[in-house]
Amino acid sequence: MSKHKDSSEHRGSKRKKPKSDGACEVTKGRVRAHFLDGETGPWAKKLAAGPSAEETSAAAPAPDEQTALPSPRLGPDYSAPSSIDIVADPVLHAISTRRSISKLDPETPNDSDLRELIHAVSSVADHKGLKPWRFIIIRGEDRIRLGAALDEAGGVHRKSGEINEKPLRAELLLALVAAPQDNPKVPEWEQHATAAGAGHLLELALWQAGWGVMWRSGNLTNEPAVRRLHRLKDKELLMGWLYIGAVPERYRQRMVNSTRPLPDPEQFLDTL
Ligand SMILES: Cc1cc2nc3c(=O)[nH]c(=O)nc-3n(C[C@H](O)[C@H](O)[C@H](O)COP(=O)(O)O)c2cc1C
Repeated sequence: MSKHKDSSEHRGSKRKKPKSDGACEVTKGRVRAHFLDGETGPWAKKLAAGPSAEETSAAAPAPDEQTALPSPRLGPDYSAPSSIDIVADPVLHAISTRRSISKLDPETPNDSDLRELIHAVSSVADHKGLKPWRFIIIRGEDRIRLGAALDEAGGVHRKSGEINEKPLRAELLLALVAAPQDNPKVPEWEQHATAAGAGHLLELALWQAGWGVMWRSGNLTNEPAVRRLHRLKDKELLMGWLYIGAVPERYRQRMVNSTRPLPDPEQFLDTL
């Protein structure tokens, strides 16, 4: 049951009403459903058995009761249980089970599928909305051109009729280009972070849509011959290629029957 009968209190009354169009209404409806289901969002924490923040601060000693000595570094406080369920929540489940697939079957998403997935990942966090990223679709013979550019960059000379087969490891490659804009408030590294975020989100989106992906790069990625092939501008950076295809059946079976343990999350979390 919805815990919020009227969401307007959460949206702020002064916000401009967006122009009504079909796609916008669908998206808005989905976002509302997501946040109003009562199981997701900060209020879900109240469902956890632990005391509320107010209760905790009420129980804490008053400042004059506290010792004057500097307090020891305590690290994160895990005493209150979490209401987050990474198995039941479909998004968290997809994130936590994602894995790279190095050997892919030939079927690939079509370009319309790619456009939809890009549509989804364009929500990536992006300071000032500079959109400093794009993908280049590489299929068919273009993969052979990429192999030739990599050979040229690496000074590799092959016998007549031989080609660099590395880009042929998948039928579809998406080159990720970081395309930083000049902006006094957003340094280049932030824009690279956004581009990398788009790459990770797209890997995840493809995975969730049932496709296999592996992000690959290498020492030659930004060598002149390779940059030329991708028609990069001076400040642009090639961030590698997502190799995309179908997940082989034998691999799918393996994933059904076995799970890969995730690293201990505590190593990634600390306090000042
Ligand atoms: C920017 C970037 C470039 C990568 N380049 C390569 C690469 O050239 N070769 C490779 O074996 N793995 C590369 N990886 C790592 C794989 O994509 C993959 O993450 C790794 O094999 C671990 O598998 P997992 O994603 O299932 O944890 C790269 C990852 C990133 C983010």
